[in-house]
Amino acid sequence: MDWSNPKQVAAFMDLHSGNPREGPGDKASTARALAAVTAAAGDRQIESVLDLACGPGMQTRYLAELLPTSHITALDIHPAFLAELEGWIAQNNLEQQVTTVHGDMKQPPVATGSFDLIWCEGAAYMLGVGAALQTWQPYLRADPAQGFIALSEPVFLSAQLPQPVVENWAEYAEMSDEDGIAARVADAGFELLESFILPPAAWAAYYDPLQKRVDALRTKYVNDADGRQVINEGQQEIDAWRNYGEYFSYAFIVTRPR
Ligand SMILES: C[S@@+](CC[C@H](N)C(=O)[O-])C[C@H]1O[C@@H](n2cnc3c(N)ncnc32)[C@H](O)[C@@H]1O
Repeated sequence: MDWSNPKQVAAFMDLHSGNPREGPGDKASTARALAAVTAAAGDRQIESVLDLACGPGMQTRYLAELLPTSHITALDIHPAFLAELEGWIAQNNLEQQVTTVHGDMKQPPVATGSFDLIWCEGAAYMLGVGAALQTWQPYLRADPAQGFIALSEPVFLSAQLPQPVVENWAEYAEMSDEDGIAARVADAGFELLESFILPPAAWAAYYDPLQKRVDALRTKYVNDADGRQVINEGQQEIDAWRNYGEYFSYAFIVTRPR
């Protein structure tokens, strides 16, 4: 993928539009992580949630359903994803409960000190776990005592990795096993409340619709080398999970500042 090539970027957005999710995850995993938050919160109400890098917002929808009295701010850098979520918000008359914000999760354009819970499925790797926790901590409400950050993070499931797995993840030098994530959480000054590995169903929830999109776009880009390359890379990503999915996944972690 060449991000400086507008034709490839356009084909990439084509491939990634209209999909329910943009990363692995499912309702059961969102609910499990959220249950760890509410158990640790005790009497404290989770009034406001910041869903960073929300994409088309499937986890935003789950959060809205599971926390019906909370306000959710869903932020993403790509307006097209926000537009998909906004369509769902309007259809369900949830404008009072869910607000979208166009912005960069590295410097979220929202008030600091104002969220009980920061959520990020499938995107914290763009900062790295430690940097993400430290960048987002100032956005947590300070009173009552600081809130929670929950995120999912790529993880190796084995110490013995096939070469294609090593190559596929080579660009993410920080990738480790679950213990490595726990160490980065501790180094960032956070307490780890929950950590679990996303199940295969969470990957199918991402890749089954993406496979349909790949299949549908093959004809469209048959005479377009840039588009073909993007579609082929999408297929390779899906195949990597089908062939080697037992060697990697995402860990969902729930943390709070110490
Ligand atoms: C792997 S997707 C995950 C989306 C969604 N959370 C999900 O699980 O379906 C990564 C998301 O990060 C967004 N993104 C990338 N860089 C970003 C940034 N700097 N700030 C905010 N969002 C960003 C992308 O637009 C995309 O929606």
